[in-house]
Amino acid sequence: MNSLITERRLERIDPFADNYASGARAMVASEIRTLFEVAARPEVISLAGGMPCVSALPLDVVGDMAGQLIGERGSAALQYGTAQGDPGLREMICEVMKLEGISAHPDDVVITVGSQQALDLIARILIDPGDAVLAEGPSYVGALGVFAACQADVIHVPMDDDGLIPEALEQAMRGLAAAGRRAKFLYTVPNFHNPAGVTLSPPRRGRILDICASAGLPVIEDNPYGLLGFSGNPMRALRADHPDGVVYLGTFSKTFAPGVRVGWAVAPPAVRDKLVLAAESAVLCHSSFAQLLVREYLRHQPWLEQIKIFRGCYRQRRNAMLNALDAVMPGGCRWTTPGGGFYVWLGLPDGLDSRAMLPRAVSAHVAYVPGTGFYANGSGKNYIRLSYCFPSPDRICEGVQRLAHVLEAEIERHGARQLLPS
Ligand SMILES: Cc1ncc(COP(=O)(O)O)c(C=O)c1O
Repeated sequence: MNSLITERRLERIDPFADNYASGARAMVASEIRTLFEVAARPEVISLAGGMPCVSALPLDVVGDMAGQLIGERGSAALQYGTAQGDPGLREMICEVMKLEGISAHPDDVVITVGSQQALDLIARILIDPGDAVLAEGPSYVGALGVFAACQADVIHVPMDDDGLIPEALEQAMRGLAAAGRRAKFLYTVPNFHNPAGVTLSPPRRGRILDICASAGLPVIEDNPYGLLGFSGNPMRALRADHPDGVVYLGTFSKTFAPGVRVGWAVAPPAVRDKLVLAAESAVLCHSSFAQLLVREYLRHQPWLEQIKIFRGCYRQRRNAMLNALDAVMPGGCRWTTPGGGFYVWLGLPDGLDSRAMLPRAVSAHVAYVPGTGFYANGSGKNYIRLSYCFPSPDRICEGVQRLAHVLEAEIERHGARQLLPS
């Protein structure tokens, strides 16, 4: 028994504790990471993780392509490549971006390990410790992790159902200016926002670009979900109308498969050069095999048809979630209606704390991500992110019902009924 305790204590002692860089001290496990273990238990319905529905891919076709790649092009597929990435893939990426009105040359594109690495590289080349960064409130948790590691000061700009609020952006910029500061960039997810599920309206796109252009504020446009709208054509990218001021981040994680880890950044030439240098120092080059796999997939498979299949699958799951929320959520809850993507942002009655409630939800076999994970400043306590991308429609309904029971018990427990907003 004693030796067990000693062993456990030894495990916790960190021999490097005094040696960490300040950026590493700022790194903490995200709310989502710590959840994955419990949420993965089969009895738990996870409405937490944003895992794409990879099973909707023709896995046999992808398998054959992978085999052929090694058989026919093994010496290129298994060799080092350049830090900027395969030119043929970059050409195909320019074709993909045309769907959102972007006209780019393959030289403008830098391949990355998912768009997460693009975020990391852009943060590394632009942020010094203490720099201000503007980002939507709430914001993508992976971006907040990157900004924290760079010791950025994240200033959240509120959104509503039409996305980022231009007047709130101006106000945040005025607040910084009054303190003698200016932000390094605006980070935004304009389409089917993670976690908020909302989309920046067309009139606001112009307004936001005008505000940023006249202040010389660079925009980082992170767009993993842009092609996953449930109706109509894809929205026009911010980069399409202001290529000099916008760095666009894209990924094949949601339109093909996250496991290939292929994303990209498109940037003005000088920024692109810095990104290539940063990529080289981070990874030398990206996986040649993964890049060729994606390139061949885009060249020879009906990838647009596959995206339609994904959209159909996510639309069905979104509908299942919205119907279930309508049917069973207690009064005082409100939620967004995503027109695409993976997420619903659920607001709870005042007085409830989604983080404190999580262990009780997991005991009731349902998992979600508490809203606090999506703010750098501790806000978001009475919000929850629900993902509908992965569970089947039946499991989604069951999960929402379990969550509703947990919320009812919580409302009872806190007497929150009296605290409901009128
Ligand atoms: C808004 C946003 N940006 C970036 C990423 C990173 O995606 P990946 O690195 O798989 O391309 C995600 C993943 O969920 C995301 O939601």
